[in-house]
Amino acid sequence: MGNLVRFSVAMDEALLDRFDGMVARRGSAVNRSEAVRDLVRRALVEAEWEASDQEIVGTITMVFDHHATDLSDKLDSLQHAHHERIISSMHVHLDAHNCLEVIVVRGTSAEVRSIADALLGTKGVKHGKLVPTTTGRHL
Ligand code: NI
Repeated sequence: MGNLVRFSVAMDEALLDRFDGMVARRGSAVNRSEAVRDLVRRALVEAEWEASDQEIVGTITMVFDHHATDLSDKLDSLQHAHHERIISSMHVHLDAHNCLEVIVVRGTSAEVRSIADALLGTKGVKHGKLVPTTTGRHL
């Protein structure tokens, strides 16, 4: 981390009260400054995510029934087709039917989105989400 710089921000009192209430609910480890830093970092990650030519990292989480016809094979084939972009995956057998898979993908945001759309759009995937993050290299 670089030098800490203090700056003042003018804000509507009611808005600040609500913000402080949210910060308080997050516990004593978080103070107002840390909460503002988190928001700024999140905004920068989102901006980087929108600049589709830069490398980003994302996790794709999905839940599916491995008994569904050909589903496991289809998901597996998709992942093999994108083996250069998929860096890691974890498979958890949730119960007798359901599997949870978490896949880490690195590439441009367009590539990561396309892989996530293909996996999450596969018929039989019950729930899924792409969470974009960043290496922080460009922040
Ligand atoms: Ni399983």
